[in-house]
Amino acid sequence: MQKNRLGMRVLLPADRIQARVAQLGQQIGADYAGLPLTAIGMLKGCFVFMADLVRQIEAPLHVDFIEVSSYGDDTISSGVVKIAKDFKHSIAGQHVLLVEDIIDTGLTLNTLIEILQARKPASVRIAALLVKSQKQQLRYPIDYRGFDIEDDFVVGYGMDFRGRYRNLDHVAVLEESQPELFPPVPGQQLEG
Ligand code: PRP
Repeated sequence: MQKNRLGMRVLLPADRIQARVAQLGQQIGADYAGLPLTAIGMLKGCFVFMADLVRQIEAPLHVDFIEVSSYGDDTISSGVVKIAKDFKHSIAGQHVLLVEDIIDTGLTLNTLIEILQARKPASVRIAALLVKSQKQQLRYPIDYRGFDIEDDFVVGYGMDFRGRYRNLDHVAVLEESQPELFPPVPGQQLEG
């Protein structure tokens, strides 16, 4: 089993991610050739995947971002979302590609897609690097999926635990048996 320099189990090394992102980008570029495309990244977790993915898409596109906050605790999505940062330009008539780092329960996307559909895009598709298949409650197809993963708590390549580890170039698993990886945050209680 490969470990990173922090002692975490490496689930997806950087080269494997890059190879898969290149495949997804090529497929997306071919599918949207000649169509008005807007790629919308869901902050914050998407930012690394988004940057790599759009550079692999050989088609003109707009890039924008949306940030939603989900009410719930640290680890469980409630599905009740509020738009914390909206995008500026209209998506009416545009083909929208929603770019997600990870789909866990799918509840965030269920709500967000309803919100976006009301803005009359020509279509909405989903690109997700990681999908936790076992937990899916998503009511929409995942058109471009990087990897199906088990129900592990993953960090890196944009994904965090309490704000940390987003800058890892790979995806790693946080194990509760490694308490040093769960450092206390001032003003916050550790769970469990
Ligand atoms: C993650 C991820 C998705 C959401 C998926 O975001 O980026 O937006 O959770 O969860 P769901 O499928 O169970 O609804 P997070 O809330 O960790 O915020 P972040 O992107 O700012 O890290």
